[in-house]
Amino acid sequence: MINRSNTVRAARKGGYQHSDYVRTESFELVVKEIYKKGIKGNTAELGVFRGEFAQYINAAFPDRKCYLFDTFDGFDANEALRELKSGNCTDAFVQAYKQTNLVAVMKRMRYLDNIVIKQGYFPKSLEGLEETFCFVSLDVDFEDSIYEGLKYFYPRMEQGGYIFVHDYNSDLRGVEKAVDRYEVDIGKALYRMPLCDANGTLVIIKG
Ligand SMILES: C[S@@+](CC[C@H](N)C(=O)[O-])C[C@H]1O[C@@H](n2cnc3c(N)ncnc32)[C@H](O)[C@@H]1O
Repeated sequence: MINRSNTVRAARKGGYQHSDYVRTESFELVVKEIYKKGIKGNTAELGVFRGEFAQYINAAFPDRKCYLFDTFDGFDANEALRELKSGNCTDAFVQAYKQTNLVAVMKRMRYLDNIVIKQGYFPKSLEGLEETFCFVSLDVDFEDSIYEGLKYFYPRMEQGGYIFVHDYNSDLRGVEKAVDRYEVDIGKALYRMPLCDANGTLVIIKG
């Protein structure tokens, strides 16, 4: 029997050092619930950057695939321009996320055989992927990409599965707008729980 708690904590070389204690501790409890309830499905992160959070997902689910979606080259230029014009972010913010590469991301992963890299602009990068999921992290910062993430992943979540929407209660105002827009589109309220982590993650549970 794997001690999943220790697996998550030990994911990062040198021990438990993630800057966002509340987010990673909450994730750990969510993982425990997923296994306790026997929720099936794979895992994914949309918005990986250098794999800081993705490494925890990969380490926590040794028996599930971990789909990693990112351009690995920063934001789409048009979407970034829209967000800049809306005053939701700065140019320095946009430029910062170009500084990554796949080799560095893969070095952080514990279960390499489980990693499926989906490089490119989401949702184009899906290429007809049909899967179900128990845990998904949406961390793409901007309204349209968060919305597209919800549109794809929410219907494919197993019952009782969890989506973490990063930055929901933050200066990135498009994130909250995207969740509200998606709720209006599907015509029902999502089961949601805000976290008091560093970037105001919203936890959505598939009912
Ligand atoms: C805030 S970073 C992700 C941080 C990461 N989750 C971590 O743990 O450090 C946002 C990432 O989303 C990616 N991104 C934004 N919109 C995207 C889209 N539509 N398709 C693919 N990647 C996207 C950017 O390239 C960037 O790497």
